[in-house]
Amino acid sequence: MDYKKIVAERIKEHVDLEVDVVESLIEIPPKSEMGDFAFPCFQLAKTFRKAPNMISQELQEKINKEGFEKVECMGPYLNFFMDKGSFGQSIIEAVMNEGDKYGSSEVGKGKNITIDYSSPNIAKPFHVGHLFSTSIGNALYKMLSFEGYNSIGINHLGDWGTQFGKLISAYKRWVDEDALEKDPIKELLRIYVKFHDEAEKNPELVDEGRMYFKKLEEGSEEEVKLWKKFKDLSLKKFQKVYDRLGVEFDSYAGESFYNDKMDTVIEELENKGILVESNGAKVVMMEEENMPPCIIKKADGATIYATRDLAAAMYRKKTYDFSKGIYVVGGDQSLHFKQVFKVIEKMGYEWANNCKHVAFGLVRFADKKLSTRKGQVIFLDDLLNQAVSKTLEVINEKNPGLDNKEEVAEKIGVGAVIFTYLKNRREKDIVFKWEEMLNFEGETGPYVQYTYARGKSILRRAGEVSGEADFSKLTSKEEFELIKTLAGFNEAILDAIDKLEPSILTRHVVDIAKAFNKFYNAHNIMNTEDEKVKNARLKMVEATCQVIKNGLNLLGIKVVERM
Ligand code: ARG
Repeated sequence: MDYKKIVAERIKEHVDLEVDVVESLIEIPPKSEMGDFAFPCFQLAKTFRKAPNMISQELQEKINKEGFEKVECMGPYLNFFMDKGSFGQSIIEAVMNEGDKYGSSEVGKGKNITIDYSSPNIAKPFHVGHLFSTSIGNALYKMLSFEGYNSIGINHLGDWGTQFGKLISAYKRWVDEDALEKDPIKELLRIYVKFHDEAEKNPELVDEGRMYFKKLEEGSEEEVKLWKKFKDLSLKKFQKVYDRLGVEFDSYAGESFYNDKMDTVIEELENKGILVESNGAKVVMMEEENMPPCIIKKADGATIYATRDLAAAMYRKKTYDFSKGIYVVGGDQSLHFKQVFKVIEKMGYEWANNCKHVAFGLVRFADKKLSTRKGQVIFLDDLLNQAVSKTLEVINEKNPGLDNKEEVAEKIGVGAVIFTYLKNRREKDIVFKWEEMLNFEGETGPYVQYTYARGKSILRRAGEVSGEADFSKLTSKEEFELIKTLAGFNEAILDAIDKLEPSILTRHVVDIAKAFNKFYNAHNIMNTEDEKVKNARLKMVEATCQVIKNGLNLLGIKVVERM
């Protein structure tokens, strides 16, 4: 039940304002002594031709107070105090009735949103930056779908470009087939790095690479076969990561997919007079926007990353008619996206405004061993495996008798990593610190999961709750605060969607867990004397677990029943 809306409707009965306007004026007071909602009367002074203090007094007398504990005026403010008992009851019942759907809505109905996320480069490691994109994109995908949007998840694989010519050359010269079989990406990376080292001594290699890419572009059988091999091997490896994380996509149309779709875009640019020659290359000038020119075709005729993104945007608009086209990509590509969106605007498409670059920061590691690994590349498997084995250590220490420890450690360890990515505002850099992210008492994934498991253990001990429950007594400060966090769940998701900022939801889930633990520490649930109150409390525990589960699920984190 949306109390804010009820407050707005009650006020609306006495004032000449749209209910939405009233609702937007309503404030949440900083202290609970000032009520749960406050309506400031300043705006009405003109129409009422009265001082705001008097208006609030008059409203206080006239307003329908049903369902509220009291309505008071405090100077120019009208303060509403919710009836805690009926509020608690309505929220808990809503959670129980709606279950896995609690917090969802239909606000996005009929709207398509494309989300470009993860998008690793084939034949290269899936690195920690890609996991950042994957975590944010997956959370947005799930939240948007939960709120009724038709989300389309796109993995814009980096599977095209001159580097594949170099790789083919490197492959022909140095590949170790056994190593390739065993760990394809490691071997492909090794020969790719070797190519660059060798090319410094022998620049002819670069020409050789260029020649192979040209053949690849022309569709020459042997080169295409090799490229396909690289791609298949890489995808197999990536799929393992996605399975482990529980991440899915609707489309794997990567850069190569746009190979035959760039010419029409280039033609259009030419027809619209936006494309100019510059040192042999074809570019779109961006002087007025204070940006370097956006290169569309290099002097040697090759297209680039931006050309493919341009073709991709056109294709996505045509295919999905998106109301928003989201790109979850690191902040270091911010100029690239500004340029691409600008070109679309220059082509005369208003929907350029609906393209959003959802940027994120850098990832660093406090653990020296992890960050200095050869070539500065951190393999994702290593990161996840370490998180899991460290979690296992904690479990062995805290709860050595636990069943299927490995399975639990996998969920908690992987969850802790995802949580770390989604905890702070996405544009902030992240420093991974094991002690911090695996701390069961900090603001961490394990803390939230532990809270869930604790709730579940209370419920197991209590057994089936069959008797009557008296919600009118759930009025203590701790109970009311907890219920308020459960009530605010949907708004947190909508806010996160609106700002394309999953951390808003992550924070809210932490708030729920904190409120629950405060309640748990202040009240002995099982020793509650009044059976009906005890039942109401148990229902509240059940509702809390449900909402935490829904929240973690949207963030891409699994819960465990025991830990
Ligand atoms: N493959 C790119 C990288 O690893 C990310 C692609 C992002 N998506 C896009 N449409 N450009 O940096």
